[in-house]
Amino acid sequence: MSLVRSNIGAMHGYTPGEQPGDVSVIKLNTNENPYPPSPAAIEAIRQVTPEQLRRYPQPDARAFRLAAAKVHGVSPDMIIATNGGDELLSIVVRACAGENDTIAWLEPGYSLYPVLAAMQAARPMPVQYELQGNDWKLPNGLAGISAKLLLIVNPNAPSGTLVPVEQLSELAAGFGGLLLVDEAYVDFAPQSALPLLQRHSNVILLRSMSKGYGLAGLRFGYGIAQPGLIAELNKVRDSYPCDAVAIGAATAALQDQPYAQRTWQRVIAEREALTQKLRAKGFSIPSSHSNFILATVPAGRDAAALYQQLKDRNILVRYFALPGLRDKLRITIGTPEQNSALLAAITSLLS
Ligand SMILES: Cc1ncc(COP(=O)(O)O)c(C=O)c1O
Repeated sequence: MSLVRSNIGAMHGYTPGEQPGDVSVIKLNTNENPYPPSPAAIEAIRQVTPEQLRRYPQPDARAFRLAAAKVHGVSPDMIIATNGGDELLSIVVRACAGENDTIAWLEPGYSLYPVLAAMQAARPMPVQYELQGNDWKLPNGLAGISAKLLLIVNPNAPSGTLVPVEQLSELAAGFGGLLLVDEAYVDFAPQSALPLLQRHSNVILLRSMSKGYGLAGLRFGYGIAQPGLIAELNKVRDSYPCDAVAIGAATAALQDQPYAQRTWQRVIAEREALTQKLRAKGFSIPSSHSNFILATVPAGRDAAALYQQLKDRNILVRYFALPGLRDKLRITIGTPEQNSALLAAITSLLS
């Protein structure tokens, strides 16, 4: 007799990117910010008192919600703080889609989405991007699908491409379910879907502190939506999803916008430079609005082999053995030194 529900027995869990213990590895595989978090975040961690640890933290991470409301120009009841953006996804899926309800997402996208749908015993509806060369477009008729939930990463992972906000607005107006715009990488993009929240009650944004704020190790994310939806989501979250140390550090990091924005500018400048240099070596790369690029290897080259050869040289990038991605490498933008090391290794491996 199985101890777990039949859908759990039948599904595969999520496979995270490799997290090597060896700090000498040039790690360009899981889209972390190459720069550390704001010194204010480190100071906030240092200032944590024994009394704060003895007590439970604020159940709703109030300090963070107030700070986020100020940064985004919304009211605090439009924010829900979570243990990483991933926890927001699981809360939304739990709250909005029951067994046999349909959950749709754009593919290729974030490989956690099918896993969450399987956990919920929901009906999966993967919808393919329309690929026109290096353009990743929403397919026609997307708004007309029948689903409780539609998940879109924007800027997309793994392509880095961006769907214009006006198109998301049209989609939200026509779609009958909840549209989750996963903005885990939006800090590196020229626009956000934030203005849609005033017009559409069926839109929720996901934000992460892991990428733009250099806090992947802390586990902190949040959702932004109209207050009615946030109140519903609060019913299904854990009692204390964010710990006292994380609330303090994430709040300080978010408040230090000038520091965070400097890291974004550096990453964006490096992204453009690396894209040009790899294109000159024969890689095909869509313009990225994120902190990574998706590089199709030059004709006649094997992406899986190149991934392994780079790994043998202590450089880790991401290879997905999935339809549409087998000839590509997803490369996180590193520091100038890391990117130079990557380029030198690729140059020598291709010669
Ligand atoms: C598209 C996308 N959404 C959400 C997340 C969740 O980020 P986190 O849980 O680290 O905040 C990630 C992390 O890699 C991601 O790639």
